[in-house]
Amino acid sequence: MEADQDTYSADVGGSGATMARALGAKPMLRKDGPRHAVERAPITPGLRAKSIRALWAPRFEHNARVQLDVLRDHGPDRAELNRDYAAPVAARNLVDLLGLPEATPDDVARWSHAFIAGVGNLGHDPAIWARCEDARREVDEHLDALLPHLRRHPDASMTSALVNADLPESAVRANVKLTISGGLNEPQHMVTNIVWALSRHPEQRDRVLADPSLWSVVFDEALRWLSPIGMYPRETTRTTVLDGVELPAGAVLGVVVGAANRDPAVFDRPERFDIARSERAHLGFGSGVHLCPGHWAARIAIGEIAVPLLYAALPGLRTDTRRDEAWFGWVFRGLTDLPVTWDPS
Ligand code: HEM
Repeated sequence: MEADQDTYSADVGGSGATMARALGAKPMLRKDGPRHAVERAPITPGLRAKSIRALWAPRFEHNARVQLDVLRDHGPDRAELNRDYAAPVAARNLVDLLGLPEATPDDVARWSHAFIAGVGNLGHDPAIWARCEDARREVDEHLDALLPHLRRHPDASMTSALVNADLPESAVRANVKLTISGGLNEPQHMVTNIVWALSRHPEQRDRVLADPSLWSVVFDEALRWLSPIGMYPRETTRTTVLDGVELPAGAVLGVVVGAANRDPAVFDRPERFDIARSERAHLGFGSGVHLCPGHWAARIAIGEIAVPLLYAALPGLRTDTRRDEAWFGWVFRGLTDLPVTWDPS
């Protein structure tokens, strides 16, 4: 499907309309072909591995260390990994990448959740629209001051790349809001997912602690096994046959990458978390022209920095089974509460 954009369009009717309403205009994620490419091209260079390592890795490490102190202060009987570390680290990183100096991590989290609820508001719940419109207004107020400044003083942020790319301002604003909604939950969930997975597989945790070069493998296996985005939509532009199933034109399809990542025809014993498996390619970041442009940022910020730092600083880190954990969601799925503990020093 991802190899054939002409047949499987990202310009999906229902959620395209709610996304345009939630974000103020249709962003790159709901566009095809050249209309998509022109909005995506400006952010690509700044999100390559080399740029992320050179420009952002020190910031990501700073953000992780700030939150590590918060987590440690709560102590091994009260620390909650999502609240104290994963969510604020992901939000601080996103504030930096987007270049929103006046925004707090709490602002970004509130906006992100409001936009996601708006995009999914196919039943048009007025309370959800009201929350979403408040978030849109707040982000627009930040951008009213920021965009003219960045036109005069470009910097390395994603917002600067977009505003200096000769795009209509409505597209700049919609894609900043798309990134606020799409660049927060998944890195956040990857922190908790990895700790959850390694706590259940202590022998694999010991292997990566003995050989830190395995952290990138741990990141990808956790992303396959517990995909933070389980599903995204596409719409057929014409009658077609997909794997023997006839589909009419205009059919809205759920691309369930969470299931593809556990496809027994591709992965040996797919239900097992196994950092030694030989088949590695997964669809956790999507595929084709919409392949997540933030994948290096996430791999480096979470897989190379935030999670290894946790294990280095807190010997014996593991989930705390004395307290309850909680999962939420399906399209965006992850832990909302993950109590953790570690060996007293
Ligand atoms: C582990 C973390 C992440 C995961 C699992 C993830 C997953 C995905 C997936 C599956 C898509 C494609 C959706 C589709 O085709 O409909 C996507 C697109 C996107 N992601 Fe991510 N993402 C992550 C982190 C990030 C970060 C950190 C950023 C921001 C820097 C980001 C920004 C975006 C944007 C702007 C798009 C739209 C791309 C386009 O339409 O061409 N993501 N992401």
